[in-house]
Amino acid sequence: MTSRRKIHQQRMVRALSNSKIDKEIKDNNDDIKTNFKDELKKRTNIVTEYIKSFMPKEEGYQKTLFEAMNYSLDAGGKRLRPVLVYEFSRVFGKSLDVAPFCAAIEMIHTYSLIHDDLPALDNDDLRRSRPTNHKVFGEAMAILAGDGLLNHAHEIMLNSCLDGDIKKIKAAHAISSGAGIYGMIGGQVVDVESEGKKIDIDKLNFIHNYKTAAMIVGSCLAGAYLGGAGEEDIKKVKDYALSIGLAFQIEDDILDIIGDEKKLGKKIGSDIANEKATYPSLLGMQESVKIARELVEKAKKAILDLDIDGSFLIDLADYIVSRDH
Ligand code: IPE
Ligand code: IPE
Ligand code: MG
Ligand code: MG
Ligand code: MG
Repeated sequence: MTSRRKIHQQRMVRALSNSKIDKEIKDNNDDIKTNFKDELKKRTNIVTEYIKSFMPKEEGYQKTLFEAMNYSLDAGGKRLRPVLVYEFSRVFGKSLDVAPFCAAIEMIHTYSLIHDDLPALDNDDLRRSRPTNHKVFGEAMAILAGDGLLNHAHEIMLNSCLDGDIKKIKAAHAISSGAGIYGMIGGQVVDVESEGKKIDIDKLNFIHNYKTAAMIVGSCLAGAYLGGAGEEDIKKVKDYALSIGLAFQIEDDILDIIGDEKKLGKKIGSDIANEKATYPSLLGMQESVKIARELVEKAKKAILDLDIDGSFLIDLADYIVSRDH
């Protein structure tokens, strides 16, 4: 980064930070229910085992590819998306073969992060507390590792769908759509094209809803389909997912300014350095926090409208805006 850019970045961080909000976020964090933390950990451990069971063995002529894929996949991460698949399948009843779908969504998400960090996109060098994939394996292998994870995810889901169960086919379709050109990839395109430009809130919402909320919608719908949810319930699941999805990206924008790199496992200031359009840059910090919280309340209402044991999903919505990583 040039020194002029660095000074500009430091100024922006100061302008957008707000010590009152920093403190509020910290207090909220301390408040996250211990019980919820335990429940989240339980589910994170389960889905992590699922993911591990589908990781390729690091052998053969394409060993480097497998190492690069596993390097990013095994680096941790919150596992939010597979936890959503797992939980929605659980609350709607008998979960079918949930493991391949949990593994697949996390593989697709991880591929999106590897590509997002490339010099041609956000040019970041730290992810999940490790040097980014291209820093370790080089750009060519990072691109191929992303391709590999995306394709492997679909192989895993299709393999599970071979028995012809329509619930699984709908789950695979939901995940595939969330990640696609009318989902995450579509959002990434507009995100990249909007760098350094002034855009309005409608376009920013398009970016956030597509690049981030779409994959969260895919996760929630996949879980609900696997659990046997009917179409009426699916609508409410989608309302929940869209609300927490947008809130999640608003919080990501906020943490990019006031977060702690050690806890986040990625460097802060990336958005300002890349002149990204974000909620805080467009609406200010205070308004961004307010909107994220309103979205969470909307999400909780959608769960209360469903006849399910939704307490974990309600706490998860609160966690989206009180997390520190
Ligand atoms: C980061 O996602 C990319 C966004 C959509 C904001 P996460 O914050 O879920 O990243 P991990 O999976 O925990 O590393
Ligand atoms: C990325 O959004 C969303 C993806 C589809 C990967 P960001 O670029 O803000 O995500 P981070 O902050 O690098 O994790
Ligand atoms: Mg990005
Ligand atoms: Mg990024
Ligand atoms: Mg970000």
